Amino acid sequence: MSMLSMPFTVRFDPTNQEVVLSGKMRPESAAEIADALELVRQSLEKYSGIVYLNVKRLTHINMTAFTALYDILAAGCRTRPERKIKIVTSSVMAWSASLFEMLAASLPNLSVEVYDSAFYPGQSFVEDESFIPILRTQTKMTWRHERELLPRHGLRSGVAMADICCGIGDFAGLVQREFKPARLVALDHSVRSLDYARKVAAGFDLQGIEYTYGDASQMLLRDDQFDFVTCRHSLQIFDRPEMLLRELYRICKPGGRVYITNEKNSHCLGEPHADSIKWTYEEVAKLFSHFDMDVEMGPKSRHLLLNAGFEDIKVDCFMVTNLDGDPQDFADIIEAWENVYAGEMAVRRGDSADFIRRFRQGFKDHVFAALHPKGYAGWPIWAASGRKPL
Ligand SMILES: C[S@@+](CC[C@H](N)C(=O)[O-])C[C@H]1O[C@@H](n2cnc3c(N)ncnc32)[C@H](O)[C@@H]1O
Repeated sequence: MSMLSMPFTVRFDPTNQEVVLSGKMRPESAAEIADALELVRQSLEKYSGIVYLNVKRLTHINMTAFTALYDILAAGCRTRPERKIKIVTSSVMAWSASLFEMLAASLPNLSVEVYDSAFYPGQSFVEDESFIPILRTQTKMTWRHERELLPRHGLRSGVAMADICCGIGDFAGLVQREFKPARLVALDHSVRSLDYARKVAAGFDLQGIEYTYGDASQMLLRDDQFDFVTCRHSLQIFDRPEMLLRELYRICKPGGRVYITNEKNSHCLGEPHADSIKWTYEEVAKLFSHFDMDVEMGPKSRHLLLNAGFEDIKVDCFMVTNLDGDPQDFADIIEAWENVYAGEMAVRRGDSADFIRRFRQGFKDHVFAALHPKGYAGWPIWAASGRKPL
């Protein structure tokens, strides 16, 4: 059943041995939710090993429902002490983990897991604060290209738009100013980035952007509500991009479009010192893949969008270069990449000092190419969109 279109839903997924509760569980008496409780009871009775109770999208639960659920879980723990129950909550529901942890304290075979505290391998790098200046300069440089492309992909004034994985919200700010959508939701999972985004918006007196904390792979946004959904530079950092695309598809209106941007890092280039630069960026792609991220995703956008059910696919490729505006901006991006990729990720992978020295050299050569009066340095990006069928 689709999420949140009803006040409350319950289903059991036998493949994952998982009971999924979602929506608002606010009965006046336990009898009102008897069917749901019965399903929980039966699932606990029938299945061995670990049974999961997924409450990631349970937005509300009142005391009546909580007590009734507690009774069933407690009875399940008593009758089958060898079977484990794992309650899976989300940090998006701040109240949820502490509430359910109370149960774990009194029922020994029950445990609570906050699934999105570390739910994709590259998270700690991407949500690191040191990424903020990179993101900001990146958006400034890509915007020159994207503002021209966006109308072709379906953005126009008056639409309802969502920017999913909005980061520090600067793209949303630019869109708000230039395209004046009727509604603009900007969602991210980094509290620090969102705080920053709100401050910047307030500083620029930009009103009306709905900055929202959420998990892009399990959003609390209703189905079919946006004309234009964007997700920039983010599918490539998830180990399961299809899962995210399913969510982008779900919240998009039939006839609306989903727009994604991704890179192909091994195609970053520069002159002079082309070979050293090429070597380093090929290594960047391998390094990301070590952490289950695919920074080679750009050219795969067409097939990803088709597989997700979109039609009328449009794909553009553009090159951000040192000749777009101030070459120092380009150089700043590369220096920031060097700091995170060579200074943190390669170290975490356990690379040798020799490797890291050579790896760093390619970034330095890229910066040199960008700042050299006769040099040229580029970073290619793929922007693609697809229409959700009517
Ligand atoms: C590489 S950044 C891109 C940010 C922005 N779209 C841009 O182009 O500047 C990826 C963003 O995805 C966010 N993110 C990662 N996992 C997420 C999730 N499950 N739900 C929502 N946002 C997530 C990170 O916090 C980060 O801001």
